[in-house]
Amino acid sequence: MTKVTMKDIANLAGVSKTTVSMVLNKKNINVSETTKNKILKIAEELNYIPNNVARSLSTNKSETIGIIIPDITNPFFSEIARAIEDTASKLNYNVIFCNTDNDNEKEKKYVKLLISKLVDGVIFITGSGNDESLDILDNNNIPLVLVDRDIEKKKNYCGVYTLNEQGVIDGVNYLLRKGKKKIAFVTGAKELRISRQRIEGYKKIMLENNIYDEGLIFESDFTIEGGMQSTEKIINSRNDIQAIFYSNDIMAFGGIKVLIRKGYNIPEDISIIGFDNIKISDFMEPELTTIGQPIYEIGKIACELLVNVINKKVYNRQIYLKTKLIIRGTT
Ligand code: RIB
Repeated sequence: MTKVTMKDIANLAGVSKTTVSMVLNKKNINVSETTKNKILKIAEELNYIPNNVARSLSTNKSETIGIIIPDITNPFFSEIARAIEDTASKLNYNVIFCNTDNDNEKEKKYVKLLISKLVDGVIFITGSGNDESLDILDNNNIPLVLVDRDIEKKKNYCGVYTLNEQGVIDGVNYLLRKGKKKIAFVTGAKELRISRQRIEGYKKIMLENNIYDEGLIFESDFTIEGGMQSTEKIINSRNDIQAIFYSNDIMAFGGIKVLIRKGYNIPEDISIIGFDNIKISDFMEPELTTIGQPIYEIGKIACELLVNVINKKVYNRQIYLKTKLIIRGTT
């Protein structure tokens, strides 16, 4: 069984392949309405699917954008992907999602695949922090927007980012106002600038209040398991902790699970703050206090920005969005 072609339709309709192509591509052609309707009816009955690759080759546009995502199991990224897909379809673009598991080799593999699929542009959320994939896209003149994680050597790329440092400062200030001074900080993956920006925010505000203690920083990796392991380390190494600030929500969920299993009361014994405000944060028990990122906005703006880059309306624009402290039951 082979794919239905225009030739099949032409044979059944008793017309030339060119006539079928003109009718299916809604080009002006002097054929009777009867013949036009006959061709359309046969195409529908045969479930004819146009060959988009052939059309892309001739028009050099695929109306498709590629999205590179580091970890589709983290709701932060699936919520961003949802916003991108909503916006893309409103702008008449299809999307191809690629999950890279934070791996540089997979990032390179997928950008090459997207280029071979003739995508019109790429939204890139790095998991490796490496810029080799960006060089591949650059060398092929593929319109590109970075999202969420900027890359040191590519600061002049179009991008949509969050003001991470200020978000952490706002969260720590809130804990200080509640009388918490022994605030442990659980980092994201350190190879990412975004993790370092959040650490910098924590260091800055703790130093300003003369309570900075390097022994309160615990390295982790943005995963639930990482949140659990670092929380085990915190409670096994210190008994003076009043609050734990996690660099993202799912690590906070891992930490809360460990603390409750060990008999801690939250927030009475230890207050918890996350970072992201993924939808499930509001439904967990206890509901998570967190530094909210405008997740849907990030995806929407990134997609609109990419379409403007594709249409050569904008270059070198970086957009920074504010966070918002969301106070719930864990503080
Ligand atoms: O939860 C995943 C984290 O990595 C988020 O904080 C987001 O900002 C991304 O960088």
